[in-house]
Amino acid sequence: MEPVKKLSRSIKGKVALVTGAASGMGRATAHLFADEGAKVAVVDLARERVDAVVKEITEAGGAAEGWVLDVADGEGIVRVVKEVEQRFGGLDILVNNAGLAAFHGIGEPGYEDTWARALDVMLTAHMRFVRAALPSLKKSGEGRIVNVASTEGFGATPGNSPYVAAKHGVIGLTRALAVELGREGVTVNCICPGPIRTGITQEIPDEHKEIFAKRRVPLRRYGYPEEVAHVTLSVVLPASSYLTGVAIPVDGGMLVKNA
Ligand code: NAI
Repeated sequence: MEPVKKLSRSIKGKVALVTGAASGMGRATAHLFADEGAKVAVVDLARERVDAVVKEITEAGGAAEGWVLDVADGEGIVRVVKEVEQRFGGLDILVNNAGLAAFHGIGEPGYEDTWARALDVMLTAHMRFVRAALPSLKKSGEGRIVNVASTEGFGATPGNSPYVAAKHGVIGLTRALAVELGREGVTVNCICPGPIRTGITQEIPDEHKEIFAKRRVPLRRYGYPEEVAHVTLSVVLPASSYLTGVAIPVDGGMLVKNA
């Protein structure tokens, strides 16, 4: 009999870059990865919020540094990836998480601006980060890419077409890159959160959250960002070496509920 293989469930010493890490699921992921011993690059829009998360992590004994970047800035992406690689000596894990709400009726004025911003921030940025980080991810030997999509990557809410198109695109990009980068030993997977308590959903009153969750979600509540971060962690473990090209719903069972 072959001996039982022992695969590592540790990301200690790995370098991880998380976009949109100043809030919500990105912040929870940055914290969790740092708790697990990774060196974390916290990337987000505003200096103050980036610094606040870096401070939280370092005060908790973790290793993190911050970069201020609008992920719609292609040249900025190349610069930040280079700086992270120089600072931490490589890059093993990329989490493309930054995102924003982009509700806009198709017939309403200003639609194309919302469309362009949604696609830039939530799809084109993912592709650009992968291109910039690819040499390091290949070199890592255990390169991991996680793209954050949404349950809106499988279906649609009315009036949300820019977001829905971006998130469907993220799932398509994930599958295409999984197929293309398999030979490089880089895995590419997608996390598809359902309703989660974060910055994006904070304006929805609690009462509405509760009504929605009781009607639509088998677990009958909104999720917490940490519950998503733990799934992301599972996907980037060295032991998850045969997992690629999947889109994992983290939605309290919402997508499988018919009635
Ligand atoms: P959040 O608002 O708490 O965090 C998103 C972060 O991304 C913010 O810190 C924001 O500043 C940052 N960001 C936005 N645009 C950026 C840009 N151009 N450049 C750099 N950073 C930028 O929201 P949440 O929910 O944690 O969002 C994380 C991801 O999860 C997003 O991609 C979102 O679409 C996705 N998602 C969220 C769901 C939810 O219910 N909260 C459900 C499904 C998906």
